[in-house]
Amino acid sequence: MKKQFDKSFLWGTAIAAHQAEGAWDIAGKGMSIADVLTAGTSKKAREITEGLLSHKNYPNHEGIDFYHHYKEDLALLAEMGCTCFRTSIAWSRIFPNGDETQPNEAGLKFYDDLFDECRKYQIEPIVTLCHFEIPYALYNNYGGFKNRKLIDFFVHYAKTVMHRYRDKVQYWLTFNEINNQCTGDKLSLWTNSAVKIAPGENKEEIVAQASLNELIASAKVVCLGHKINPKFKIGCMIACVPFYPYSCNPIDQIASLKASNKRFFYSDVHVHGKIPEYALLEWEKKSFTLTYTKEDLDTLRQGTVDYIGLSYYMSLAVSALSDCEGTLLSKDPLIKMVKNPFVKTNDWGWQIDPVGFRYALNYLYQRYQLPLFVVENGIGAYDTPDEDGKINDDYRISYFEQHLAQLKIAMLEDGVPILGYTAWGGFDIVSFSTGEMEKRYGFIYVDKDNQGRGTLKRRKKKSFDWYKKVIVSNGECL
Ligand code: BG6
Repeated sequence: MKKQFDKSFLWGTAIAAHQAEGAWDIAGKGMSIADVLTAGTSKKAREITEGLLSHKNYPNHEGIDFYHHYKEDLALLAEMGCTCFRTSIAWSRIFPNGDETQPNEAGLKFYDDLFDECRKYQIEPIVTLCHFEIPYALYNNYGGFKNRKLIDFFVHYAKTVMHRYRDKVQYWLTFNEINNQCTGDKLSLWTNSAVKIAPGENKEEIVAQASLNELIASAKVVCLGHKINPKFKIGCMIACVPFYPYSCNPIDQIASLKASNKRFFYSDVHVHGKIPEYALLEWEKKSFTLTYTKEDLDTLRQGTVDYIGLSYYMSLAVSALSDCEGTLLSKDPLIKMVKNPFVKTNDWGWQIDPVGFRYALNYLYQRYQLPLFVVENGIGAYDTPDEDGKINDDYRISYFEQHLAQLKIAMLEDGVPILGYTAWGGFDIVSFSTGEMEKRYGFIYVDKDNQGRGTLKRRKKKSFDWYKKVIVSNGECL
């Protein structure tokens, strides 16, 4: 039995360009779909505006100005001992409108410098091609990913950056949390696919078409990437939210199975290279007329991923019992999401479940038999500096301690192969779901509040030293 983490296990932190970089219109960058998201709160949803409105607050425009601070920031990650760093490329920095033939050299140069800086510290960059930042013009002019033309635009963009960084980046991820959109919620449809649903349109059918187009685009990019550099490791990225059956009543088991199929449909295609039977039958039952060709099916078969990138924040419980109160997960009255009485929640209502992490890792490996890479995990919390300005975030340390202990068990006792772990944030950045700055995930505090006030100064939290110890001991101290 393996007793320790492999020497090659990668430790790091993760961000996304749109939540951190800022500089939203600098050096030729075009507007992205994240640039029209206003600030919200846990109670008030972010608005998706049509273009920019002068009286609105768009927190991603500045982010934490990583664009101008990246040298200082990477030095901090190096000090923490990180051996990898996950970030994304802002598509609209490279192709401002998404459909140009020639890339924006200034955008390419920025990522050259960023990856060189990583290499300077022997930090392996893990790069997401599309993390909720599709060029806005691809929504405006083409209607987003429901339009098949976006497949080619994405492939052209991916080819450009994979070729440019072929000797600097080895690990790639195609679409971040591609499966969020399975819930059909407005924000996920926007951030995954740049799609808005007009009254009278069949939302489910549109989601299915956009998802399929992304899966085809991803498969094309996997094939292409392997030609550009056979050493590339190209993964998918899914939000791994396991569904527990609320009770041992068989109908709850089926509810959880159906909910899981909806969520893991995406990784089923990414890994198995074909559309699963359960999806084909459902589309047929609902009389969807989806467009895909025989060639697309070949592409799906050829472009299967090398590993599974995943985020893990929470588990959910589902029930089909009529006396169980909960929100409907889909139009199906037999799948309700219900509160799990056995786990706690954070201030935003996310169910915190460390043991569920072990379960999720086992679940994915059993379903796919591919190596996993945990590219997001962490806790959003309010941090209050004490009189000396110190941030004693023991709750964050405790969260990570518990989750990493479960990851260790999954790896060493259950035999799940895991390539690495990148804690979400590293730095406090703009929250994706609420647009808040004060939903903080970092080991490094960034002086900025929800109203955008602050010096942007970086400060180490107590958890900084804790994570450093974990990395230095290669997980031994867990
Ligand atoms: C994941 C996303 O859903 O969760 C990240 O990939 C996001 O972009 C993270 O920031 C945490 O979510 P939030 O809404 O708390 O920032």
